Amino acid sequence: MGDPSASSGGSRIGETLIDSARLHERVTELGAEISADYAGRDLVMIGVLKGALIFMADLMRELTVPCEIDLMAVSSYGSETDSSGVVRILKDLDTSISGRDVLVVEDIVDSGLTLQYLTRNLNARDPASLEVCALLTKPERRRVDTPIRYVGFEIPNRFAIGYGLDHGQRHRNLDYVAVLDQG
Ligand code: IMP
Ligand code: MG
Repeated sequence: MGDPSASSGGSRIGETLIDSARLHERVTELGAEISADYAGRDLVMIGVLKGALIFMADLMRELTVPCEIDLMAVSSYGSETDSSGVVRILKDLDTSISGRDVLVVEDIVDSGLTLQYLTRNLNARDPASLEVCALLTKPERRRVDTPIRYVGFEIPNRFAIGYGLDHGQRHRNLDYVAVLDQG
């Protein structure tokens, strides 16, 4: 990627929030916890595109239990940095989740509005269970209280990029999580 501090599209990669060693360590822990919890069950992980792509790819390789994966893509209406809670499904699941043990894998929960919509929508499809695993959450920004069973890291109220998270579709390929420097 060249110089990681290089300017790109009017925004810059700021300070590191979570380096790649710490990410790997935490993903390994989450994988062990999820493996223990889902032993003998019928796990389907649902990745929420595009942000959860990298996280889910790493997390699923830490699992010691069988799992299937499926993917959804959603977009929430709103400004660039604030979601409105009105969510549109751009890509739906390929398979039925009725009677199955579903784990939604999210990149980040900010206001919680997107996740609230998603869990309501998925619960209506009659899964045996439905839990959420989010790499990051910003507790200060939460507007609705929607349960998250597995959390990677709580972060401060800063715009995060890298490890799947984007700003204007860029920076997803950073192997660590940084702050967006908008100065
Ligand atoms: P919410 O509906 O406000 O919880 O927003 C959730 C979605 O907004 C996430 O799934 C991300 O796609 C995006 N988002 C929220 N905060 C950030 C951030 O700090 N960096 C990158 N994307 C973010
Ligand atoms: Mg997302």
